Amino acid sequence: MASNTLSVTDNRTGKKYEIPINEGTIKAIDLRQIKNDANDFGLMTYDPAFMNTAACRSAITFIDGDKGILEYRGYPIEQLAEQSNYLETAFLLLNGELPSKEQLAQWTYDVTYHTFINENLKSLLDAFRYNAHPMGKLIATVAALGTFYPEAKNIFDVETRQKQIVRIVAKMITIAAFGYRHMMGQPYSYPDNDLSYSANFLNMMFKTTEVKYQAHPALEHALDVLFILHADHEQNCSTSAMRSVGSSHVDPYSAVAAAAAALYGPLHGGANEEVIRMLTEIGSVKNIPAFISRVKSGEGVRLMGFGHRVYKNYDPRAKIIKNVAYEVFEVTGKSPLLDIALELERIALEDEYFVKRKLYPNVDFYSGLIYQAMKFPMDMFPVLFAIPRVSGWLAQWQEMLQDADQKIARPRQIFVGPERRDYAPIGKR
Ligand code: CMC
Repeated sequence: MASNTLSVTDNRTGKKYEIPINEGTIKAIDLRQIKNDANDFGLMTYDPAFMNTAACRSAITFIDGDKGILEYRGYPIEQLAEQSNYLETAFLLLNGELPSKEQLAQWTYDVTYHTFINENLKSLLDAFRYNAHPMGKLIATVAALGTFYPEAKNIFDVETRQKQIVRIVAKMITIAAFGYRHMMGQPYSYPDNDLSYSANFLNMMFKTTEVKYQAHPALEHALDVLFILHADHEQNCSTSAMRSVGSSHVDPYSAVAAAAAALYGPLHGGANEEVIRMLTEIGSVKNIPAFISRVKSGEGVRLMGFGHRVYKNYDPRAKIIKNVAYEVFEVTGKSPLLDIALELERIALEDEYFVKRKLYPNVDFYSGLIYQAMKFPMDMFPVLFAIPRVSGWLAQWQEMLQDADQKIARPRQIFVGPERRDYAPIGKR
């Protein structure tokens, strides 16, 4: 008997099966042969929220949640955060290797020179109410952007696909910043091709009457590091949305809009906003014990910015972000919420409730404080997450399209509704 198999005995029938094990995994479809009788559909697995199901093979991002390891294409996140920049990291995610000098220059040029968006999109923004959430505007604008490039539906044409990737990565900062300026009732600030990706975004966000916007180098760098840290995180909720929607072979703009919608939720990309709300509500270090008691009481209050489906150790991104926070505060002055955050973290890391459940700070615990210090309004936080995550989404989408194992995503269900019954006319119900 081969040693890399799983022996299964179906006690309903007494039959035995040998299921191959490859890469630490059995194929769910191999269970289908296990049948009660000839009419049986075959055994399925029940796995809501994909707690223990690999939906793909991927060579992009590696996470070891127990050890707190995160690597993009094999490179540790700590090294990328310290030595790379966002556009180089995006190239790495999308292409599998770090770029040569020439490749990086070309990629940076291409992205920089595709940042303008069609002027018609400004009327789309005008259709939104002045106080519309910028994430709603981002989702709608990205979807609308696709209608300007009908060729984008040719997803199996490598050149066309690459063109859309450049466009989406480039225009994310413009769409995001225009959404903000619209919310603020300020005139749009156009891209400046002399600036780096991060500085250009800050230029479109915050430029007022100055002839040339100059970002503070420490803030430009902090934003770039945050972009690197958020660029990919393997099969999270929004990436799964990107793959799932993309598996219908829709154009990448529509799939990115769907992924961005998934990111908008408070349990995913909206968590950093929730962290600031929570810290503001706590208000003072002296109120922390009472807040922790509420979290532990099981009344549904969560310590936002804590816990992760995969990390059961300190999120490596949170460590890097904490250091970036101090660099930013040197320029902007310390956030009054920092002391509350630090004390909350200290108490939680010692408290049995959190220790037992392996709840550690995640990427969102400190990122909101940085964004707030940099004068981004809270509504922009998930947008700031979406800007770099787009490179991860597109890398994963591209990988999916090239993977012969993939088909249109179509989970199974266990039907628990009523058995067949006859329609009753309204007078007889
Ligand atoms: N505060 C208090 N208790 C928590 C928390 C928290 N933040 N997170 C999990 N728990 C408890 C939960 O109540 C449960 O306890 P019990 O076993 O007694 O029922 C246990 O820990 C396991 O929680 P879970 O909900 O089964 O864990 P999950 O893997 O489904 O959830 C999570 C992961 C991130 C949704 C969750 O930890 C959470 O809601 N955290 C707060 C929101 C947050 O910070 N989200 C950002 C995630 S990182 C950014 C990203 O990648 O999107």
